[in-house]
Amino acid sequence: MTAESRIHELRHELDQHNYRYYVLDEPSVPDAEYDRLFNELKALEAENPHLVTPDSPTQRVGGQALAAFSQVRHEVPMLSLGNAFEEADLREFGRRVVDGLDQPGAVDFSCEPKLDGLAVSLLYRDGQLVQGATRGDGTTGEDISANVRTVRNIPLKLQGEGWPAVLEVRGEVYMSKAGFDRLNAAQAEAGAKTFANPRNAAAGSLRQLDSKITASRPLEFCCYGVGQVSESIGDSHIGVLEQLKAWGMPISRELKHAAGIEECLAYYRDIGERRNNLPYEIDGVVFKVNSLASQRELGFRAREPRWAIAHKFPAMEELTEVLDVEFQVGRTGAVTPVARLKPVKVAGVTVSNATLHNMDEIARLGLRIGDTVIIRRAGDVIPQVMQVVLERRPEGARPVAVPSECPVCGSQVERTQLVKRSKGKETTSEGAVYRCVGRLACGAQLKQAIIHYVSRRAMDIDGLGEKSVEQLVDEGLIGSPADLYKLEFEQIVGLEGFAEVSSRKLLDAIEASKRPSLARFIYALGIPDVGEETAKVLARSLGSL
Ligand code: IVH
Repeated sequence: MTAESRIHELRHELDQHNYRYYVLDEPSVPDAEYDRLFNELKALEAENPHLVTPDSPTQRVGGQALAAFSQVRHEVPMLSLGNAFEEADLREFGRRVVDGLDQPGAVDFSCEPKLDGLAVSLLYRDGQLVQGATRGDGTTGEDISANVRTVRNIPLKLQGEGWPAVLEVRGEVYMSKAGFDRLNAAQAEAGAKTFANPRNAAAGSLRQLDSKITASRPLEFCCYGVGQVSESIGDSHIGVLEQLKAWGMPISRELKHAAGIEECLAYYRDIGERRNNLPYEIDGVVFKVNSLASQRELGFRAREPRWAIAHKFPAMEELTEVLDVEFQVGRTGAVTPVARLKPVKVAGVTVSNATLHNMDEIARLGLRIGDTVIIRRAGDVIPQVMQVVLERRPEGARPVAVPSECPVCGSQVERTQLVKRSKGKETTSEGAVYRCVGRLACGAQLKQAIIHYVSRRAMDIDGLGEKSVEQLVDEGLIGSPADLYKLEFEQIVGLEGFAEVSSRKLLDAIEASKRPSLARFIYALGIPDVGEETAKVLARSLGSL
């Protein structure tokens, strides 16, 4: 076989794998096989540079940096959407749609998530991707062709056949939650600026003059409509999207049909419940009248279609003030800064504290007490301080100082040292963590140590919750895990939550826990850096206590 025909064969095969992976969500070969084919193609192309074409799967690496983006005029304007916040707004929208149509009767809608990224237009001529553009002001956007070509799930050429000569696909470029976390971790590691949210990360990554940077960012595309088309490709919105999917366009897995506005509301509630578990961030759902004929009949009002609406979810970010920064002491003595906030509702929950992780994080944020900050509560994760709004810094905002003494026990607080050993040499550097040296003499560490000691995966002592442990420590009944074994019935009965039966039960549970496996016992001791796995390794090599 000639190099040329092998190159064609490989490209076809890789395109098929990409389609199955990104569009159908049914990968057909393991990643290793894909990589093998990809590398074979790359090698053949390197030997035969004249056979490289712009639609080859190897051409997603970005090219020469631009001096500036050129402008692109949108033949069909890129519009925005009206918003609904309450169920009543949506019902009102439903009534306006019905009233706006000549034919009375039920109206069908399409339902899609509203991805939080940025709108892009992709122009295909004879099935080849020839241009990518941002929305801009809706009439004129920027030419980001080189950048969109690096987005892995944007087809460089369409699959199948029958596509119109001119086909402009529209959709959202976004970053998944996992991609965002990975990118931010890498940025922080490299000492580069981190992004406040996946939307900013996607925007910052796509609007790069150097497309090689775009290529290195985990961007994804989801198609939600068309702009300019040289011939009709369907008579319903869902029909159009399914046709685009058949041609290789990724569309939302959550695309649904709704017969009437009540089904739209049910979709909103369902997606709302699953919002935290979706792999990407959404700020609402979008409903569109499904029939394209009805869409034409309804038309537009100003810059918004009368046939579509965005039903928004509560925002996940809010502004609030940092009233103070306090320090909490954890099980290993780590003294962790926590921001006390002026209470604010974020995505339906009142937030008055946010973790600040460590002093490096405070330095990175440049945070001072009194600052106004952006608070973000994504999913069930603890609220985070994302950014300081410097323009709002009041006079007299105070820098945060690490206490020199433990706020719980008064022992000294020391900065941890990071020890690196390589080739027999030892180097130390300052760590980000500060520690109270009090160990079990520190009430905070003692409580956490005992909570860990009795926990299910450690000694598994039933009947001792956090509150009970705190009581036992506060009452001076235990000063170390060993003291658990000296507890007597008379000491516990009568404490809050301990009647006769529960006191007996606790003593029985302590008694029953006396013969753990060695690994469990080692783990229960809570030695710094000794987790369950390390404990098992130690137990195996030590053999016995
Ligand atoms: S349709 C004429 N569908 O939301 C209709 N937009 O507020 C134009 N968006 O600029 C847009 N997901 O960036 C549509 N499933 C979806 C969407 C969506 C996200 C964004 C898009 C648009 C903005 C409008």
